[in-house]
Amino acid sequence: MIITIDGPSSSGKSSVAKEISKIFDIVHVDSGAIYRAITFLAINFNCIENESNINYKLLTDIIQSKKITFEKNNSSYSIAIDGVVVESKIRNSRISKLVSVIAAEKSIRDYVLIIQHQIASRNSVVMDGRDIGSVVFPNAEYKFYIDASIKERSHRRWTELKEYESNITIENVEKDLMKRDFNDTNRSISPLKIPENAVIINSDDKSIKNVVDEIVVFIKSNS
Ligand code: C5P
Repeated sequence: MIITIDGPSSSGKSSVAKEISKIFDIVHVDSGAIYRAITFLAINFNCIENESNINYKLLTDIIQSKKITFEKNNSSYSIAIDGVVVESKIRNSRISKLVSVIAAEKSIRDYVLIIQHQIASRNSVVMDGRDIGSVVFPNAEYKFYIDASIKERSHRRWTELKEYESNITIENVEKDLMKRDFNDTNRSISPLKIPENAVIINSDDKSIKNVVDEIVVFIKSNS
């Protein structure tokens, strides 16, 4: 079984996907975490001069020499590079600022597509991202698109970030999210869009549990 959940940053899709993975006992792949892990490698291996000068040849060589996997721990899945979980290192604002630039590069997307298809060839999955129902698995059994207003999403993201970055302001978070939305929606390869036949859910006035319940009811009544 393949369940796809797409949507913009901080729409709640990863938290929802995590719960869906537990309910159906299937693998959760947070595809944004793959792009973040690649951005983490790009920073650590000095592939980035600035946003418009990134050494993709070097970066592609580096990621091909690494193994990016999702490790199960207490019923949730965390991203790992060569077996080392890097979850806590990929959510900071430096990576958030650069990730949508790196994710717009074709050689990087081609590589991520291989990882995504490999995982799903061995497991039932719920995968969240931007292009999962449109490009990665256009024939998935169940496709969802979760959205929320920019105000609500900025507030959610700021609440998460201020735990680690005490001087972050909600205005800066909103600016970064809008920039990322713009990059993700307007890039030429695999832009963020509502996939054909996806069920659209607006999560503005809904808790994660409300959205999860809606998805579970839909899947059970359509299986
Ligand atoms: O989901 P998250 O906000 O962690 O994703 C980080 C970035 O990774 C997005 O802003 C987007 O640029 C990229 N991404 C993508 N395609 C996906 C998932 C994420 O381009 N399927």
